[in-house]
Amino acid sequence: MPYSDGGLDTKLKHVIRESEVNTIYTDKAQAVAKINLGQKLFFDKILSGSQDISCATCHHPTTNSGDDLSLSIGVGGQGIGYSRELGETRRLIPRNAPEIFNRGATGWRTMFWDGRVEITPDGKMLSPADDKLPTDVLENVVAVQAMFPVTSRQEMRGRKGDVDIEGKPNSLAAIGDTDFEEMWARVMARIVAIPKYIELFKQAYPEVSVEKLHFAHAANALAAFQIHSFAFEDSPWDEFLKGNTHTLSEKAKEGAVLFYGRAGCASCHSGTLMTDQKYYNILVPQIGPGHRDSAGFDIGRARETDKKEDAFAFRTPPLRNVAKTGPYMHNGAYTSLYDVIKHHINPLEMLQEYDASQLDDGLEKTFRLNTSTILVMSQTFSSEVNVVPSLTEHEIEQLIAFLNSLTSPSTKNLSHLVPDSVPSGLPVDR
Ligand code: HEC
Ligand code: HEC
Repeated sequence: MPYSDGGLDTKLKHVIRESEVNTIYTDKAQAVAKINLGQKLFFDKILSGSQDISCATCHHPTTNSGDDLSLSIGVGGQGIGYSRELGETRRLIPRNAPEIFNRGATGWRTMFWDGRVEITPDGKMLSPADDKLPTDVLENVVAVQAMFPVTSRQEMRGRKGDVDIEGKPNSLAAIGDTDFEEMWARVMARIVAIPKYIELFKQAYPEVSVEKLHFAHAANALAAFQIHSFAFEDSPWDEFLKGNTHTLSEKAKEGAVLFYGRAGCASCHSGTLMTDQKYYNILVPQIGPGHRDSAGFDIGRARETDKKEDAFAFRTPPLRNVAKTGPYMHNGAYTSLYDVIKHHINPLEMLQEYDASQLDDGLEKTFRLNTSTILVMSQTFSSEVNVVPSLTEHEIEQLIAFLNSLTSPSTKNLSHLVPDSVPSGLPVDR
């Protein structure tokens, strides 16, 4: 085949073959009735203890399925997106809300920055609820994930003594932290108390009687909505992989050659969603409230495995639409792709010289850096990231051009995913 570009396409095809790049494939064929039900549930604040927050508050279609914040703001907060405000006496959630694009992709099996939800290659569902998880009903890893936001005090449930938006006691917050079954039962009781939901569940699950409905059925519907509605495979990069070589700028092609070649990115950002779904400590600055049981740090994967060597390791994030889904890293420590790449090139130096003024006021003062922090973090540093060589400014620009080519044009306006109203009658974030 003749190439018009002095061999760039050939070079690119070669690195792609070498690194076994595959296009994404998402099972969009979810049942329509489940998608419709899931959409309502995703936007309905009835799922939250105080009826003041929905999944969409933090994963809104108009903010690229994330919340545009470094760290999420849960129960008690006001507004959506960048202007969302923390409720009085509430703390920031220690982590960045990830985008949720393409999570129905083949091979996707982990959830959360620390992978505390996972489906193992032999189909076993792992989660914080252990054997309480209704594995017989849950259909996929997206559904398993959807079981947990309603159990999280900070995200949706609330703390003991909270009152809801009508001033009534928040009954979900009164439940003990390990009593998952009770939490799911009470949320589900609220949902099926609304006649419109019974109708929607009957359409989605004609074979299940109302008494037999479990929150896991709602979770499957939430998953169907997310899998169907946030799946996009039309980025310039996807078009290129499908054989349309003109969709990618020359600069982006050079960037791809670097990404899959000498820059070493694909050794971790591999596969369909550009992540190996493994965990690394690349010395991302610690900002935010962290966790009380870890002296205010967020020790990431180690929270899940209890292994010292996993301290400060976080899952390699997927990169589709990444140009639009900042702030970046598990805690939103960086606001530009340029800084993110610089960080990979020289993690220790970037940590030592981290400029917290890029953060919002409230967050800036939570950045802690001293020799002992650096020492503790360095002990479990993942040397795998040393594959990233020193790169010129020009090469960094090329990599950014490639990352920009991962943006699907269809994500530009997703406001059609916001329903006019939800069955509870509670206000819909828009
Ligand atoms: C207060 C904001 C907030 C709310 C409300 C919320 N989330 Fe999230 N979501 C987050 C944060 C923060 C994380 C990352 C947490 C972590 O890794 O520990 C996350 C993680 C996820 C992930 C995992 C993505 C991945 O790749 O690991 C999915 C999927 C998701 N949320 C869907 C939902 C659904 C469905 C709901 C409603 C049932 C919901 N979220 C409610 C903030 C929120
Ligand atoms: C050793 C594995 C590894 C290599 C190699 C690697 N990354 Fe990463 N990357 C990660 C991990 C892990 C994170 C998240 C770290 C955290 O949040 O603590 C990350 C974060 C990112 C992010 C932020 C995404 C988001 O949504 O927050 C981008 C962009 C990124 N990497 C691009 C690159 C590029 C470009 C290269 C090559 C120059 C590269 N990475 C090489 C593991 C790697």
